[in-house]
Amino acid sequence: MARSIIGGLISNGHPGKMITATSPSQEELDKLAEDYSVNTNTDNKQALADADVVVLAVKPQIMKPVCCELAEALPEQALVISIAAGISAASLEAWLNTPPLVRCMPNTPALVLEGASGLYANSKASEEQKQLAHAILTAVGEVTWVDTEALIDSVTAVSGSGPAYFFLMMEAMIEAGIKQGLERETAATLAIQTALGAAKLAKHSDVDVAELRRRVTSPKGTTEQAINSFEANGFRDMVDQAMQACRTRAEELAEELGA
Ligand SMILES: NC(=O)c1ccc[n+]([C@@H]2O[C@H](COP(=O)([O-])OP(=O)(O)OC[C@H]3O[C@@H](n4cnc5c(N)ncnc54)[C@H](OP(=O)(O)O)[C@@H]3O)[C@@H](O)[C@H]2O)c1
Repeated sequence: MARSIIGGLISNGHPGKMITATSPSQEELDKLAEDYSVNTNTDNKQALADADVVVLAVKPQIMKPVCCELAEALPEQALVISIAAGISAASLEAWLNTPPLVRCMPNTPALVLEGASGLYANSKASEEQKQLAHAILTAVGEVTWVDTEALIDSVTAVSGSGPAYFFLMMEAMIEAGIKQGLERETAATLAIQTALGAAKLAKHSDVDVAELRRRVTSPKGTTEQAINSFEANGFRDMVDQAMQACRTRAEELAEELGA
């Protein structure tokens, strides 16, 4: 994720010299420096010295020791952006002495600069810092803000985990296409391109997705038969329950990984 954000910033014209990447792995850092001309450092505390913004992009399981190491070296007014799943603002505030903070839930399409991120700011983050966070995450896709931290778990249920739902849908469509006689490659090409096309159409259309669906569902037509079958089998309930389960797990994770 960190590599994607750095790549997105560089391709949006941010100078590599303004970015410092840290990692325990010198090899990883050498690759980043070669690809993006960023500064690198294996010492997190040293890298913090002049930072205006610190992006925390380590695994949730090691966030606590990493934060506790950073706490004493963090410049007082530096904005902290955490992209870790399931680590609450309260935990980050406890570990880092309540800095200006933005919690972000990104998703994997950030890897191809088509991400969707939900952002939540604590009360110490200034408007200018929120705009900075917005600009950084915009480098890898769409950004939306939520007013309460609890809604970050709903962002996880929609977009954080969402790519996997669409992959599952594509998997199922590919398998069904093969069952009907298509070659796997043909079914995969058609399913993936259809998902991409539908998403682009939805994004650029001036009507909502329900209307787009109605427009391709002519009475007594083929699509109507498929949609009727989905509805009769409880498709909407299935999606609702899956997303409830996702949100519940996000809440549990925050408990498990918290302060
Ligand atoms: N991937 C996703 O779909 C996704 C979606 C939403 C949110 N997130 C969040 O994004 C964060 C990163 O996920 P990821 O998939 O990018 O994980 P990742 O590939 O494991 O990246 C974490 C990086 O942190 C480095 N690291 C480990 N210890 C460090 C330390 N003490 N100081 C500095 N860097 C250190 C790791 O280096 P080594 O490899 O050498 O250990 C690795 O390069 C997670 O908190 C995750 O919850 C990920």
